[in-house]
Amino acid sequence: PKATKTKIGSAAPHRGERVRVCGWVHRLRSQKDIIFIVLRDGTGFLQSVLSGRVAQTYDALTLTLESSVELVGVLKEVPEGKTAPGGHELVVDYWKVLGPAPGADDAFTNRLNEKSDPSILADLRHLVLRGETASSVLRLRAHLLTAFRETYISHNLLEVTPPCVVQTQVEGGATLFKFDYYGQPAFLTQSSQLYLETCLPSLGDVFCIQESFRAENSHTRRHLSEYTHMEAELAFITFDDLMTHIEAIICETVDKIVSQPGPAALLKHLNPDFKPPARPFRRMSYVDAIAWLNEHCIKHEKEDAEGNVVKDEAGNPIMVEHAVGDDIAEAAERQMTDIIGTPIFLYGFPAELKAFYMKKMPADKQEGNHVFTESCDLLMPGVGEIVGGSMRIADSEELLAAYKREGIDPEPYYWFTDQRKYGTCEHGGYGLGVERFLAWLANRYTVRECSLYPRWPGKATP
Ligand code: 4AD
Ligand code: MG
Repeated sequence: PKATKTKIGSAAPHRGERVRVCGWVHRLRSQKDIIFIVLRDGTGFLQSVLSGRVAQTYDALTLTLESSVELVGVLKEVPEGKTAPGGHELVVDYWKVLGPAPGADDAFTNRLNEKSDPSILADLRHLVLRGETASSVLRLRAHLLTAFRETYISHNLLEVTPPCVVQTQVEGGATLFKFDYYGQPAFLTQSSQLYLETCLPSLGDVFCIQESFRAENSHTRRHLSEYTHMEAELAFITFDDLMTHIEAIICETVDKIVSQPGPAALLKHLNPDFKPPARPFRRMSYVDAIAWLNEHCIKHEKEDAEGNVVKDEAGNPIMVEHAVGDDIAEAAERQMTDIIGTPIFLYGFPAELKAFYMKKMPADKQEGNHVFTESCDLLMPGVGEIVGGSMRIADSEELLAAYKREGIDPEPYYWFTDQRKYGTCEHGGYGLGVERFLAWLANRYTVRECSLYPRWPGKATP
């Protein structure tokens, strides 16, 4: 009889019929004259049984994991008491190997398991992706991006696609990837923020999901050289509106994930203890955070004027209390979120720690020698900073002064400055690191697990 071609994920309506399915041998178990295969095709897993004549061929006896095969047979409901993915199994009456795999002596089956050396796992990422955990993370990532887009659309933000090749910096010259562009210097973008700002007068509030690049020599759990940056920009808002909006986007997106059966099941599998965060998120000013760190005896490494860590005679870094003006480093952030255990908005960072474009806090919020800005970082338990945002300087004179202070040549920024000349507005926005968000959501140890092919210093293959 004729067989209907189907994907595993859409096989259910064909129960009782003869179907044809192509995929990869995910699991394999042979008993005397019967072979059990769990077939994988990217849409699901299908238990399949080969018995009798079809199990007695040379191909059947030499079948290996990860071979690609075509299976044809009747899709039968599994009897009560037996479990199988989807509640059915394929009773195979015809099959063939499409592409054999090397089998047990090979890297995939032999060397790859959760305990393998991370550098081997990284080199074999293309095979690691076939595993259940890695593919679940990427599947959840896809749902997450869809959910974020839906949330933005429901908030009336429009999606745009800014360029990756740029000739201006956003987050400081030190982390730019520079290259030759038809004889001119150009960079890979660090952030699409400046372009999003230019969209406000024509497109209204906008967002983008675009790769950003950072030449940071950081081998940490949360740094990538290329990462997926989700950024948004909103016009005619206050600083308070900005933080409320970030909170809403995150909570509504999480709600979408936990309320849809497919995404919710993936999340449950990867992070069984996940609980959506409660609103409103705790807000803590930078100055209060410095005091909080000192109250909790969380110190940081002493640095000299060049930013080198100062060590004692035994070669250990000297640890000192935090002072207003100090950066809150990754370790301190992590300890803070571990103790508090909920999302925290840190806001009002000193201008000297932040990028050139940030708006100052109003005069009545300023004190001491520092200039505080309308900036905020959102910290999540287990990861630390996942969002960085701010209100932007809306005045062109003030912006020109900021370029000067940071030693930035205003010339290539003419189009950005023009925004302030042609009908300026109060506006603000933020960037969210998608891999960091996913590491928090799916409880992954490192952002490297949350990227299809992660890039870090020295690593650009596969
Ligand atoms: O805090 P950042 O540098 O802020 C900006 O780039 C702003 N211009 C964004 C904006 O306002 N439109 O980066 C924003 C976020 C961080 O909070 C972090 O989640 C992520 O981007 N991020 C990284 N993620 C992975 N690897 C890196 N090297 C990252 N650098 C930043
Ligand atoms: Mg930041």
